[in-house]
Amino acid sequence: MTDTGIEAAKRKAAIRAVEEHFSPDFSYVGIGSGTTIIYVVEAIKERSTNPNILFVPTGYQSRQVVTQAGLTPIAFDSLPEGKMLDVAFDGADEVDEDLNCIKGGGACLFQEKLVAERAKKFVCVADYRKDQPRLLSKWPTIPIEVAPISINTVLRSLRLLGSPNPHVRTGLLAKAGPLKTDQDFFIIDAPFPVLLTAKDTALGLGAGDGTDGKWEVERLSKEINQITGVLEVGLFCGLDGVQAEALRDQGLGKAS
Ligand code: 5RP
Repeated sequence: MTDTGIEAAKRKAAIRAVEEHFSPDFSYVGIGSGTTIIYVVEAIKERSTNPNILFVPTGYQSRQVVTQAGLTPIAFDSLPEGKMLDVAFDGADEVDEDLNCIKGGGACLFQEKLVAERAKKFVCVADYRKDQPRLLSKWPTIPIEVAPISINTVLRSLRLLGSPNPHVRTGLLAKAGPLKTDQDFFIIDAPFPVLLTAKDTALGLGAGDGTDGKWEVERLSKEINQITGVLEVGLFCGLDGVQAEALRDQGLGKAS
């Protein structure tokens, strides 16, 4: 698949996501980060002239995409109390059969999770390359956002959980040092063996608690989130039925 083919696949997934899950009558819409989301915003812009919709971005890049399209961004914390987003669109780095996702390839995972959890429906827009039976099949690491002061402690804890070589992500120019997130935190990229789904553990394919070296997605996500110094882990799991349905529907049909 050429680059052009991949871009066409992203656009196709984005258009379908917007056609099926966006309404010009919405009040609040979450906009994730990455390159696929640019096509989502384009598709929204083409379908809506409603100036009253407010868009909640998931970071600096996402906010730029929203404003450059002439849409109105609002900060996550300005959402009125008790208000949910009508929908949140976002990309993913990898998605498994149970619709768990790896996110954070663009280092925006904390705000992405905040926004996803505040949405009535989370629509993950992912092209065919990201569709894998299990997480960490192709995407190599789990992104984790970490307080800079605790970096060595967190690296040590991740090694104890079985990550062979967790490392701090550097900026585009390695000599510029660690990449900083929108929260001024660092990202650790932690490799682990391929993650089991809940179905795998039910079938006895592994304990799922890391004792045999194999982790089930949700258990590992909880363990990593419990490490002091971790702000958020780039494993999105436990989506409810409607959200999961939407994600499978949007993300993973072969888009080319
Ligand atoms: C950023 C993300 C992105 O949504 C993810 O990396 C997908 O990006 P792209 O659409 O460019 O493939 O999680 O933190």
